[in-house]
Amino acid sequence: MYNIGMATRFREIDEPDVPVPVNQLSIGSRIPCDMFIKDGLGLKVFFNKDTLFTNASRDILRDKGISEVYIYQRDEPHLDFYISKTRLPKQSQDRETPASFKQYAFTKEQHYQIDPSMLIEGTTINFSLSVLDDFNFSSLVEASDKYPVVVDSGILNVAGDVVIKKTDLPRYHEYISYLRKSYKFIDNNESKTRALAIRETSKIVLQSFLEEPRSGEKIKEVEVLVNDIIGCILADQDSIYTLLSMKGYDYYTYTHSVNVSAMAVSLGITTGLTRVDIEKLGMGAMLHDIGKSQISHEILDKQGRLSDVEYTIIKNHVIEGEKIMRDHKSFPEESIGAVIHHHEKLTGKGYPFGLAGKDISFFGRITAISDCYDALTTRRPYKAPFTPFYALMMISKDTGDYDPDLLKIFIRMLGKIK
Ligand SMILES: [Fe+2]
Ligand SMILES: [Fe+2]
Repeated sequence: MYNIGMATRFREIDEPDVPVPVNQLSIGSRIPCDMFIKDGLGLKVFFNKDTLFTNASRDILRDKGISEVYIYQRDEPHLDFYISKTRLPKQSQDRETPASFKQYAFTKEQHYQIDPSMLIEGTTINFSLSVLDDFNFSSLVEASDKYPVVVDSGILNVAGDVVIKKTDLPRYHEYISYLRKSYKFIDNNESKTRALAIRETSKIVLQSFLEEPRSGEKIKEVEVLVNDIIGCILADQDSIYTLLSMKGYDYYTYTHSVNVSAMAVSLGITTGLTRVDIEKLGMGAMLHDIGKSQISHEILDKQGRLSDVEYTIIKNHVIEGEKIMRDHKSFPEESIGAVIHHHEKLTGKGYPFGLAGKDISFFGRITAISDCYDALTTRRPYKAPFTPFYALMMISKDTGDYDPDLLKIFIRMLGKIK
C-alpha cells in the first residue's frame, strides 16, 4: 500500500480525554503535545505539538468560552515537563539556536523540495535525494544517469523535507512527466493522481520562472499549468484538498504560490467568475510573490527578527513583482491586482499603499485571504504550522482585515480540510 503525504499517522485507539486548564499554558511558549478542543460532538485538534501559544490563541479560546483543552494520557509527562519548564524564570530557559543560518540559507537555495509520495516504489530514479530536517541536510540516496536507483519503501518514510539538488530538477521533471503519461498511478485514484502530478509539475515550472521571471517562454508554461489546475478543480472541486495536501518542514516560494493559486481559483469558481476571469485570477495568484525572485535568499530565509531595512526589502517584493509582470505584455491588467494588492488590508493597515475597503481590487482581496491562510498553515524551522481549523479561526478573528463575504465562502470551502 502506498502512503500519500509526508507523514503517516496511525489511527489512535485511545481518546484525548485528559483535561488541561487553558490558564496552565504560557504566552510565548511552545505547546508540548497535540491539544484538542470539544467541537460539537467530537474532539478537534486545536494546537499541533510545538505551536506557539500566543495572545491571539488565548483570545480565541476565551471568545469561544473554552477554559479547558484535552490531551492524550500518554502525553501527560510532556505536559508536566512543560509546566515545570515554563514556570522557571525566563533567563534560565535554554533557547536552541541553529549553528549557522547563513550556511542553512545557502544550502537550502541549492535544493528543491519534492513530494516523496510521487516517488513510486519500483520505479527508477536518476537524481539524488537528501533530507532537510531541523536545519540539517543529509544524503538519502545517491543516484545519477550512470548509477540509477530503484525506489524502495525505505525512501518514503523519512522525517523532514525530501529535497533534490536544483541541478537535478530537469531529471525530476522528466520523471514526473513519465509518471503523468504512464499507468503507474497511485492507489488507482485517477483524479487524485492527476491533481498530485499537476501540483508537482506546477511547482517545477514556477521554480523555473522564479529563476527567469522575464522569460516570455516560461510564462507560457505557467499559463498551461494554471489552466491544468483550473481544469482539475472544475472537474472535481474536492481536488483542492489534494492540491493543498503537501506540508513540509520549510517554506518554499514555489510551493506557496501553487497553494495560493489553487485556493484563489477555487474561491473564484465558488464566487461564480467566468472561465476567462478564473484564468486571470489563477495567473495573478500564482505569480503574486514573483517579486521575491529579486530578494537575496539570506534575507528570505533569515530566521528570527528582520531588521527595519530587511523588512523594507521584503515588503518591496510587491512593487518589484508589479514591475516584472507589467513587462509581460500578455499578463492581464486584472491579474496585476493580485500581485500589487495581496498585502493590502481592508482596514487600510496593509502595504504598499495602505488602501482600504473596495479600493483593493477583487483579485487582490481573494489572493490576500489565500496568502494569509497558506502562511499560517506552513511550517517554518522556528514555527510549527497551525492546524487548518485554527488557521481559519485566526483569519476570521481579523474580521477587519479581510473581505468578510469572501472569508465566509473561504471558510465554507476549506472547512472540510483535515
Ligand atoms: Fe507576498
Ligand atoms: Fe505570498
